[in-house]
Amino acid sequence: TQEIFDSALAYEPDSSDIFVVTYPKCGTTWMLNILYLIEHGGKMIGSDDNLNFHYPFIELVGGDKVQEFKPPRVIKTHLDDRMIKHKEGVKCIFVARNPKDCVVSFFHATHDFHNLYKYEGGKFDDYFKIFMQGRVDWGDYFVMVPRWHEKSLREKDVHFMLYEDMKNDPKMEIEKLADFLGPKWSDSIKREGVLENVIKNSSFKAMKSNPLKYVSSINKVDNMQLTISLRLQCITIAPKDLKFMRKGVVGDWRNTLSEEQSREIDEKMKTVGKDYPGFDKIWEKYPDL
Ligand code: A3P
Repeated sequence: TQEIFDSALAYEPDSSDIFVVTYPKCGTTWMLNILYLIEHGGKMIGSDDNLNFHYPFIELVGGDKVQEFKPPRVIKTHLDDRMIKHKEGVKCIFVARNPKDCVVSFFHATHDFHNLYKYEGGKFDDYFKIFMQGRVDWGDYFVMVPRWHEKSLREKDVHFMLYEDMKNDPKMEIEKLADFLGPKWSDSIKREGVLENVIKNSSFKAMKSNPLKYVSSINKVDNMQLTISLRLQCITIAPKDLKFMRKGVVGDWRNTLSEEQSREIDEKMKTVGKDYPGFDKIWEKYPDL
């Protein structure tokens, strides 16, 4: 509702807050699970538990609800940097994913959440157009992601990460992340076996084996699954056939994008790079993208 969204925008961060920020479908859930695992000595979240109970999604539950969580808080968001109030000490982890894989994943999510989006039967080619125009949920990838990247170059409290690097070398990325977050986190992964378990239990295979722990959905209601989280007082409806953990790979876009669509994104990246220097070079180390 507008009220909840306004309350998210009005949220006054606590200096101990950690925001996990992503454009949708870029590895949010993966990152939240990594944080959960580090906080819990590598132990996987219980099957009757849910990540959303620990790490509130601020624009879904509102800032007032987030205030009820005891600091230090980990907060999930897809908001633009201008929508989060500044507070000294607040740390932001930003996970970016290349736009080609992002648009494919976002299309599938939009399609699969058919009870929310009514996009059943919607075609990728049409979705691609509105994605390129920034007329999809949470707005324009080519504004939101470069803005956060630029911010990370200026501000030491913003840690910019790539989905592709996490796939490539999770150990190194988790170690860098823990160093960024501070001693509580870096000490945890130094304890015997913790880092190995964080890596193992955050793998795609491990997460796919019980996706309901990551997306809110418990009881069956007709063809939907409905969760009423008393702790969050919010309702999330996930369709039964939702493939929340879909493929989890880099380069899947090749199965969907036409050459022309791929070129259009390459051109767009070059244009964006003029306003946000360096942004167009981020994925250069992955020549297949
Ligand atoms: P695909 O649709 O390409 O498979 P978000 O959590 O931001 O919604 O991102 C969802 C995307 O991250 C999906 O991508 C999902 O499969 C992928 N993902 C989730 N957990 C993952 C993991 N442990 N490793 C790799 N990818 C993961």
